[in-house]
Amino acid sequence: MKKKKFKKVLVVLGGTSGERPVSLETGKACFKALKKKGYKVSIFDPKKKNLNLIDKKNTDVIFNALHGRNGEDGVAQTYFEYLKIPYTHSGVLSSFNAMNKLNSKEIFKKNNIKTPKFFSIKKSDFKKNIIFKNILSKKIKFPVVAKPINEGSSLGVVICNNKKKLFKLIKNLLKKYNELMLEEYIAGQEVQVAVINGKPLGAIELIPKRLFYDYKAKYTKKAMTKHVMPARLSKKKYNEVLRIAKKTHLSLDCRGVTRSDFKFYKNKFYLLEINTQPGMTSLSLVPEIASYKGISFENLVEKILLDASINK
Ligand SMILES: Nc1ncnc2c1ncn2[C@@H]1O[C@H](COP(=O)(O)OP(=O)(O)O)[C@@H](O)[C@H]1O
Ligand SMILES: [Mg+2]
Repeated sequence: MKKKKFKKVLVVLGGTSGERPVSLETGKACFKALKKKGYKVSIFDPKKKNLNLIDKKNTDVIFNALHGRNGEDGVAQTYFEYLKIPYTHSGVLSSFNAMNKLNSKEIFKKNNIKTPKFFSIKKSDFKKNIIFKNILSKKIKFPVVAKPINEGSSLGVVICNNKKKLFKLIKNLLKKYNELMLEEYIAGQEVQVAVINGKPLGAIELIPKRLFYDYKAKYTKKAMTKHVMPARLSKKKYNEVLRIAKKTHLSLDCRGVTRSDFKFYKNKFYLLEINTQPGMTSLSLVPEIASYKGISFENLVEKILLDASINK
């Protein structure tokens, strides 16, 4: 057998974000896969113990299975850098920019990557007329999508058909979130692309039975969303979306695996966001795309692990 680059792996999972349940599932699945591959694996939940208490001597590498705030936004990554332990997925700055939808959309725009029109509102400057003035000046038509600027799993994402509903929903969301993004609604197909180690792996299409690909559509079998792999696109368009996802991954200087979420409408792709810690649960899309390409779940997890590093 080949000598392993790392022996002792610490899977960091759970955490304190709204996506804790998803992270626990991702972490458990990756833990199992790494055990199967012959690594000495243990787990660490930052909800129970602070990240600076990680036992450095017994950790060759960290497999970051966190999702959401403090795990996907550069905070956990800063601890890993400080501890000088190589870790999987993107680094501090890439994670920060990808998690903050305002930052990432500015980066998409700079790189000529098409993204829906948007503007942001802060709790402190919440005023009905400002919101509607912005909607008009940006030429955004209803329906409008409102979402937190740094959440995941569709948490807090709402689609509004009229001014009255929008105002009410925004008011409610601002009780929980300090800043929101308002975005034009893009109809059409929902397409997501996995990129691993800088190379696009494939594009999957989601057909939600619900109004959109919300939390329930993502994580419950009952509300089942139809997964179509490969996405129903012409060869030309399929390759185009792979190219955009690769460009996005590279524009944000991401590492390991990412998943970029698109809408495909009137022959154009609109990038909604890039995820630097995509889900690895049994219903997750990156493992499904990998499996279509003949990469088993265990091999996928090991591929991600072997790309772990720190800033030199
Ligand atoms: N501008 C939009 N137009 C149409 N649907 C959207 C838009 N923004 C979000 N959605 C729907 O909400 C889902 C979650 O939005 P996304 O921006 O990817 O946030 P999250 O980080 O929560 O996944 C998308 O997969 C899509 O179904
Ligand atoms: Mg998404």
